[in-house]
Amino acid sequence: MSDFDIAAYIGDVPDFPKPGVTFKDITPLLSDPEAFGRAVDALVASAPEDIDVVCGMEARGFIVGAPVALALGARFVPVRKSGKLPRDTVETTYDLEYGTQTLAVHTDAISQGDRVLIVDDVLATGGTVAATADLIHRLGGSLVAVSVLMELAFLEPRDLLLRRDIDQVTALVSYEE
Ligand code: PRP
Ligand code: MG
Repeated sequence: MSDFDIAAYIGDVPDFPKPGVTFKDITPLLSDPEAFGRAVDALVASAPEDIDVVCGMEARGFIVGAPVALALGARFVPVRKSGKLPRDTVETTYDLEYGTQTLAVHTDAISQGDRVLIVDDVLATGGTVAATADLIHRLGGSLVAVSVLMELAFLEPRDLLLRRDIDQVTALVSYEE
């Protein structure tokens, strides 16, 4: 893994989706099967033992989380934006920079005592992971770790997660600005 530089496959797109924001574009990574495979391998290697469930959050968390779940032999559970899941759900609403977002998961997707890994593309403020952790806990699951491709460290997501006792966090690359 030491010679794999994931940052070389993540593009910077200035002023997207709005002026002053630099968007981290993972499509170059996805378009290179060897590099994407190595990124998935690294996320799999970061996972604790005996993961029962991988939760991936709509939409980019699906792309990254599903191959990790398959490699771990774990169930993949989609955490979706409100109104998309057809059966009974638990939902949680959290603040975004502008407005709010509601995430939902099927109530039967996670059972008491399940060991859960959250996988997403990017940890920014940490709000999406914190909301997903809330859903997991309400269903009796145990969130044992969070693994992401990248972390926007300048937004200090780990501070938010630590306040919720989430301290097992792996990012393959961390951006300081
Ligand atoms: C993006 C990204 C993470 C989240 C990180 O999702 O994919 O899920 O923001 O931000 P946070 O740490 O501040 O919560 P978004 O819903 O914007 O887009 P997506 O549907 O492409 O995943
Ligand atoms: Mg997302």
